Order: sequence, then structure tokens, then C-alpha cells
Amino acid sequence: MRVLGIETTCDETAVAVVGSRVRDGGDILANEVMSQIARHAAFGGVVPEIAARAHLDVLDRLIRRALENARIGLAGVDAIAASAGPGLIGGILVGLTAGKALALAARKPFVAVNHLEAHALAARLADHLDFPYLALVVSGGHTQLVAVKDVGEYRRLGSTVDDAAGEAFDKVAKMLGLPYPGGPEVERLASEGDAQRFDFPRPMLGRSSADFSFSGLKTAVRLETLRLGALSATDVADLAASFQAAVVDVIVDRVRVGLRLFTQDAGRPSGLVIGGGVGANGAIRRALTRLCAEAGLRFVSPPPELCCDNGAIVAWAGLERYALGLVDDLAFAPRPRWPLDANADAGRHGRA
Ligand code: KG4
Ligand code: ZN
Repeated sequence: MRVLGIETTCDETAVAVVGSRVRDGGDILANEVMSQIARHAAFGGVVPEIAARAHLDVLDRLIRRALENARIGLAGVDAIAASAGPGLIGGILVGLTAGKALALAARKPFVAVNHLEAHALAARLADHLDFPYLALVVSGGHTQLVAVKDVGEYRRLGSTVDDAAGEAFDKVAKMLGLPYPGGPEVERLASEGDAQRFDFPRPMLGRSSADFSFSGLKTAVRLETLRLGALSATDVADLAASFQAAVVDVIVDRVRVGLRLFTQDAGRPSGLVIGGGVGANGAIRRALTRLCAEAGLRFVSPPPELCCDNGAIVAWAGLERYALGLVDDLAFAPRPRWPLDANADAGRHGRA
């Protein structure tokens, strides 16, 4: 079984072809990603109109290249999948319409994929993992703990009440004079800094819910930068390290609570998985590796390129749905807002 997947919900235009293995997991036959970072960098964040136009400029070419690299024509694909949300409406329209047009022209089934579902199922593409498991999705737009019970059966156990984790990394990077996207820059500098120099707050630590908050931490960093005035290279590295250490503590504490809530609801998870761009952060990955080792739990962290936005995870989510007969109508409308458990009451494999 082979599925072509299209991703255009944010600032990555991506197309991939993924095939199912005979036993389990998936084979990535092609994975084309074109980042728009250079077009947005001057604005310090993603500009929706620029993003939509940039997706339109390159998507045709990426689809052609993905099919060439996979060494199959459109006829060799069993289904077409595209992210239908959540994300920026202009970009979603470009990818979703392209996916539907391909499906119509090639007479293939179409699968509308929830972008968060793609992150949550990525671990099964990279490294097979049985349901149920706990997924931590941490990106520039989302921060959630999700109980993944089956394909299409998700329960959100906690989410951020303000900024997403990646947004906090990006905003702090901006305060420190670092380029966008800030996550990788903050991580690089943090490795040279003193994480103990600033005692930043750990929002939500110890709370019984599994929600996150990063706004107060971000403000604390801002106040410290104002107090220091002109920042030396050492100040910047120490601020980055102290900020990252606070984020790590918050995430570990929240995941611990998430695991407790998961167990109360659905028994013991088969593991913890991480997805989303912030999942590429080495300090977070190491801390979660330790947490899982203590809990005797499997930790599945897809390689960084499968944590960040890409087409392979969309193709894979499409493949998992298609394999269960879950295909969508070509009238499927884009969903800029699309909570993962919106259809929690619709029953097994239901879709709202
Ligand atoms: O999943 P993603 O590629 O796109 C969204 O759906 O948002 O995530 C991008 C986010 C950005 O905020 C970026 O700064 C952050 O992930 N990020 C990181 C790292 N690499 C990317 N944050 C912390 N450490 C990293 N190494
Ligand atoms: Zn994402």
C-alpha cells in the first residue's frame, strides 16, 4: 500500500510517498520538504499571506519530484492524503485543493488528515508502537498531551493555556537577538550557558491537571533582559540555558501528570512518543528518556526530521486511515481549527 501525503498547514511545503511494510511500520519512498523560513525570517514569524503564496509557487514541483524519487507514477499510489487543518487557512486551502484535484484526476481515494494526528501517529511510522500510548505534541503552534487509543481515537489530556512551547522558544530567541526560528538557536546557545544563573519560574509545576503555560516564563525572561540592559554573549547563553532548563522541568512535570491521567483512564500506555518541532530539542529528549527509564516505559522519539513538519507523517496518517477504510469526500472543507478529540463522542474511528 502506498500513499502520497501533502502538508501545507504552516511554513513548510512538503510532499511524501510512504509505503506500508509487510510486517509493521512504514517505508518512506520520498520525502520532499521545502522550508519557507527565508521568506518569513525578516518578519520574525510566519506571515500567513506569504505562506499561502509560497505553497502555491512550489507545490506542483514538489509533487512531481516526490513521485519521481519514489520511482512511481500517480497510478502506483493507492490513495492521496492532505492535511486539512489545523493551521493557516490560506496554506491549508492550497494543499487540500491540490490533494483533492490529484485524487479526482487519478481516480484515487482521498484522505483528509488532521495535522496533529499526523504528529501523534509519527512514532508508528518511525518505529512501530502498539496502541494505546501517550503522545506529547510540541510545536510552534501546539502543545498538547494526547492519549492515542487507536487510529481516530484520541483524548486530549492537557494543552497550553497560552503560548505553545515553540512559540515561547521563538519569542525568547527574538528577545535575545537570535534569528527565527529560535528553537534551534536557543538550544545551541543553551549548551554553552549556565542554566543555574537565572531562577526562572516553572509555570504549572505540581498542578494536578496536565495543562501547560509558558507566558509567565517568557515574561520573566523579558524582565531579566530589561534589567541586564546590553546583553553580553555570556548573558545570552546563560539566559538561553536558564530558559531551556525551565521549559524542560515544566515538560517533564506535565508529562508525569499526563502519564498518571492516562493510566487512570486507559490503563498502562505502551510508551511515550514525542512529535512536533520542539521534539527535536536534545535537552527535552534526554529528560524524557530519563523519565521513561525511571517509569519502565518505552520512549519513542522519531528522528528530528520526522518531528518537524513534513509530508511523510501526513502520508503515514493517511495510510493508517486508508487501511481502515476511512476515506473522505472531496467536499471535505478546510479546518483552521480542528481539535484532535472533537469527535470523541462519535465512537470508534468516528469523524465529526
Ligand atoms: O512542528 P514544527 O516544524 O511546525 C509547527 O507546526 O509549528 O515546529 C516548529 C517549532 C518552532 O517554534 C521552532 O522554534 C521549534 O519548533 N523548534 C525547536 C527546535 N527545533 C525546532 N524548539 C526547541 N529546540 C529545537 N531544537
Ligand atoms: Zn506541526
